[in-house]
Amino acid sequence: MSFRIERLVEKHIGGAAVVLVNAYALPPWNESWSLEAAAENVTYVLETPRSIALAAVDGGKVLGIALGIRQRRHTGPVIYLDELSVQPDAQGKGIGTALLSAMFETATAEGCSSVWLISQRAGALSEFYQRCEFAMRSDLGLYSRSSG
Ligand SMILES: CC(C)(COP(=O)(O)OP(=O)(O)OC[C@H]1O[C@@H](n2cnc3c(N)ncnc32)[C@H](O)[C@@H]1OP(=O)(O)O)[C@@H](O)C(=O)NCCC(=O)NCCS
Repeated sequence: MSFRIERLVEKHIGGAAVVLVNAYALPPWNESWSLEAAAENVTYVLETPRSIALAAVDGGKVLGIALGIRQRRHTGPVIYLDELSVQPDAQGKGIGTALLSAMFETATAEGCSSVWLISQRAGALSEFYQRCEFAMRSDLGLYSRSSG
């Protein structure tokens, strides 16, 4: 599949939102994102100073996105990967791997010492990230408190 990775800019927001909606409608997530909610997520990252937003594009069509937010740590800046998704009919063709790699390279070029993300502890996604050289932390857990 031919695609190229470029900085995600305003003209990509609609296509990026469609990718997010379609990617999360399937297992293992089965989530019902509205286009409006997805576009808000993408726009938020774009509006965050020094964020890294990337799109895999084929002839103007957005096939995948990677959204990273820059954070400051005591060791220096890092990138939190808030979103990685690929259009379902374009999955399994190397786009996700290429986006992850481009995110890491861009983050490094912009002075960040690491890229981190939250995902499933086991299964295909976990294997995917580990194949892409992301190591899983065994000493940390994810905490949340909900209102409902
Ligand atoms: C995870 C994801 C971004 C990978 O993108 P991709 O373009 O399919 O990735 P690649 O083609 O580079 O690599 C494919 C590998 O991803 C793994 N994978 C994980 N989840 C997958 C899924 N839902 N569909 C297809 N492959 C998946 C497979 O093991 C596959 O390996 P294989 O080619 O040896 O079978 C993409 O599957 C996706 O958008 N999934 C839904 C959204 C999501 O889960 N995002 C990450 C949240 S933390």
